Amino acid sequence: MDSIEVTKVSTAVLVAGIAYFLTGLIGANIVSPERPARPAIEIKGATPETPSGPAAEAALAPIGPLLAAADPAVGEATFKKLCTSCHTANAGGKATVGPNLYGVVGGPHGHMEGFNYTAGLKAKAGPWTFDELNEWLHKPSSYVSGTRMTFAGIANDKSRADVIVYLRGLSPNPVPLPAAEPAAPATK
Ligand code: HEC
Repeated sequence: MDSIEVTKVSTAVLVAGIAYFLTGLIGANIVSPERPARPAIEIKGATPETPSGPAAEAALAPIGPLLAAADPAVGEATFKKLCTSCHTANAGGKATVGPNLYGVVGGPHGHMEGFNYTAGLKAKAGPWTFDELNEWLHKPSSYVSGTRMTFAGIANDKSRADVIVYLRGLSPNPVPLPAAEPAAPATK
């Protein structure tokens, strides 16, 4: 190899190195590895309207009083809009992205035989009560961190109550609704 060849080869190596470096630099600027504060695609009615933070994480009010006034037909419409991309609801229905939800209310966490649930969801003790479903559907990722249900949650209390009474009806023998609370004493 004469010296011109050597120069050519080392120049080629140098140019390749610079190109590699620049591509990495440009790529890192175009594709941000950070999660955006708000999702790029917002599903109407599915993203929390309240800002997150300590106040937003406060415990939810019991869902019982809202269930009495909830409408399963409205809940079914909401379910079709927000949930059927991942869940079937008919008796004996197949699992898709998520498990079939027939009989989930009052059933154990991870109620569908053979579905590959996350360990976090399976580890929750006890049955799915109305209040637990309320918390889950409000924000799945805070009820079970690392859940595979990649769904932001339903921020509106009434919409959640409607969906929960709809789920309750997916059973030959629905769990009774909580007894109506006695009216709060008047304050004036
Ligand atoms: C993007 C897909 C997706 C959407 C949308 C979704 N889910 Fe899920 N859902 C899942 C997956 C996956 C699981 C299993 C989660 C796990 O194992 O952590 C699950 C689990 C559940 C469970 C627990 C089932 C059990 O057997 O314990 C309930 C209840 C549920 N979803 C209700 C809903 C409702 C109601 C909606 C709509 C408001 C909804 N999901 C929207 C994917 C989804």
